[in-house]
Amino acid sequence: MTQGVERASPALELGRVRGDLELQQILDLQRRNLVRNLDAPSVAAQGFVTVEHTLDVLRRMHDLEPSIVARASASLAGYALVMPVACRPFVPALEPMFQRLEKLGRRFYVMGQICIDRPWRGRGVFDALYQAHRELLRDRYDLVVTEVSARNPRSLRAHLRVGFQELERYRDATDEWILIGWDWSASVNRPGASGSPDG
Ligand SMILES: CC(C)(COP(=O)(O)OP(=O)(O)OC[C@H]1O[C@@H](n2cnc3c(N)ncnc32)[C@H](O)[C@@H]1OP(=O)(O)O)[C@@H](O)C(=O)NCCC(=O)NCCS
Repeated sequence: MTQGVERASPALELGRVRGDLELQQILDLQRRNLVRNLDAPSVAAQGFVTVEHTLDVLRRMHDLEPSIVARASASLAGYALVMPVACRPFVPALEPMFQRLEKLGRRFYVMGQICIDRPWRGRGVFDALYQAHRELLRDRYDLVVTEVSARNPRSLRAHLRVGFQELERYRDATDEWILIGWDWSASVNRPGASGSPDG
């Protein structure tokens, strides 16, 4: 059990998505946190997600590499999507980001979206999800990359805290984005090094 998980709850379980029911739970949590479904004060203080997936897209991503979730009894406390480069055609909205990543020349994958259910925020679930990513994927990838809207300071703060660093800022048709990466091949000091997600 990681330090982060203990801070969240002893009952919390981290691991790979198990099937359609959990993919549906991801879509439900995503829908409740879409920028178009939140009021302005919530967007500013709590953060928001932009990309809307379909069940079909999540299934195709899942077939390539299962995403990682934090389970709290029968519900999801949070999720962090795994997008290997082969997922690139599935989500056209992310094309501007993938174009920028072509020059990286490293073994990377994209963390496609992270969301924590509101009652679980500020309780270590964020760190626990990324710790599970690192433990389950670091043997095949040197770094994890993602992007955060410049209008989401809460998410940016949390990402920098776990070890991400800014790679680039750019603007596309929807927003201003901060492209960030967490290099596992270089860092020694990582949060919660003793965790054991269920894989
Ligand atoms: C963004 C999100 C994943 C972060 O998870 P969380 O459990 O809330 O994160 P944590 O509490 O561990 O960390 C948040 C950090 O931001 C800080 N913070 C909180 N509100 C903030 C704000 N409005 N502006 C700047 N920093 C803020 C906190 O103090 C904390 O930093 P600290 O550890 O240095 O004190 C979660 O809030 C969420 O799911 N929001 C809705 C969806 C979303 O924004 N997803 C990310 C899309 S990129």
